[in-house]
Amino acid sequence: MGKRFDGAQSASRSAPRSAGRWEEHRARFEAYLEGLVFSEEPRLETLVEAMRYSMLGGGKRVRPTLCMEVAEVFGAEPGLVLPSAAAIELIHTYSLIHDDLPAMDDDDFRRGRPTVHKKYGEAMAILAGDAFFGESLTLITVYQEGSSEQVLEVVRELAGSTGVNGMVGGQVIDMDQTGVGGAADPETLRMIHIYKTGALIKSSARIGAILAGAGEDEQAAVSEYAMEMGLCFQIVDDVLNATSTREALGKSAGSDAEQGKATFVGVYGLDGAKREADEAAEKALRALSTVDGDTSGLEELALFVRHRAN
Ligand code: IPE
Ligand code: IPE
Ligand code: MG
Ligand code: MG
Repeated sequence: MGKRFDGAQSASRSAPRSAGRWEEHRARFEAYLEGLVFSEEPRLETLVEAMRYSMLGGGKRVRPTLCMEVAEVFGAEPGLVLPSAAAIELIHTYSLIHDDLPAMDDDDFRRGRPTVHKKYGEAMAILAGDAFFGESLTLITVYQEGSSEQVLEVVRELAGSTGVNGMVGGQVIDMDQTGVGGAADPETLRMIHIYKTGALIKSSARIGAILAGAGEDEQAAVSEYAMEMGLCFQIVDDVLNATSTREALGKSAGSDAEQGKATFVGVYGLDGAKREADEAAEKALRALSTVDGDTSGLEELALFVRHRAN
C-alpha cells in the first residue's frame, strides 16, 4: 500500500493539535481487527484465511477511523465504537471482494495483492463476502456497548446504507451504466456515487455520533459533512483511476475508461471532475461550521480525501 493519511501530512490548513490522532485511531483499529477470531473449526480454515487475507491486507481504514473520530468529537472514548467500526470495515471489505469478481469489475489486484477470487477462487470469494455481512451483525449485536436503542439504531443505519437504497443499489446502477461512459446522465452519475460509496461513509459518521449520544442537530451536521466527503471520495477515485498507476493505487488503473464506466472524469473531463471534488470537499467543510466541538480532525480528513494519492 502507498501512503496513509495522517494529520501532519494533510493538515495544511489545520493546527497540528490533532496530528497523530488518526494514527492512534488506526493503530487501535488494526489491533482490534487483528484480534477477531471468526472460527476455530478446522473445516472452515480456508474461509477464515480468505477473510483475514482480505481484511488485514492493507486498506486506508477511512470509514472505521471516521466513526472513531466522530465519536470523539461528541465526547466519547473512541475505543467504545470499535465493534461497530469493525462491522463497517467488514462490510466495506465484502463490497470490495464482490466488486472485483469477474461478474462485476473483473479485477485481479486489490490493496496491493491478488484479489480474493484470484487467490482462493470465485466461490470462496463470494462466500467470504457473505460471511463478512453476518459477522458484522454479530459484532454489533453481541459486542457493541450502548443502550439497546443505540445498538438497534446502529444496525438500522448500517442495513439502510448497504442495502437497496445504498451501496448495493449504487453498484446495480453502476453496472447498468457500464458501457455508457461519458454519455451518462449527470444526475444518475451523482446517484451512483452517493449510493455506492457516499452512503456507507455517511453511516460511518452517523454511527459514531449515535453511539456518542449526539443530538439530532449534531447528527444532521456530521451526516451532511460525511455525505459530501463520501461524494468527494468517489470522485477522487474516478480521477485516480484515470491518472494514477496500478503500483501507486494497489488496484487497477485506467480500467474505468476501458470498461466505459460512468465516471466524473468521463462526464465532466479531468479538470471538471477535480472542480466537482473541490466543491464537495468545500461543502463538507462548511457543514462542520455548526458543530460545537473540535472538528479539526474531520477537516483534515476532508482535505486528505480530496488530495489523497491512493
Ligand atoms: C475503495 O475504497 C472503493 C471505493 C468505494 C472507492 P477505499 O479507497 O476506501 O479502499 P481501501 O479500504 O483503502 O482499500
Ligand atoms: C467500488 O467502486 C464501490 C464499492 C465497492 C461499493 P469502484 O469499482 O469504482 O472502486 P474500485 O476502483 O474498484 O476500488
Ligand atoms: Mg465497481
Ligand atoms: Mg471496482
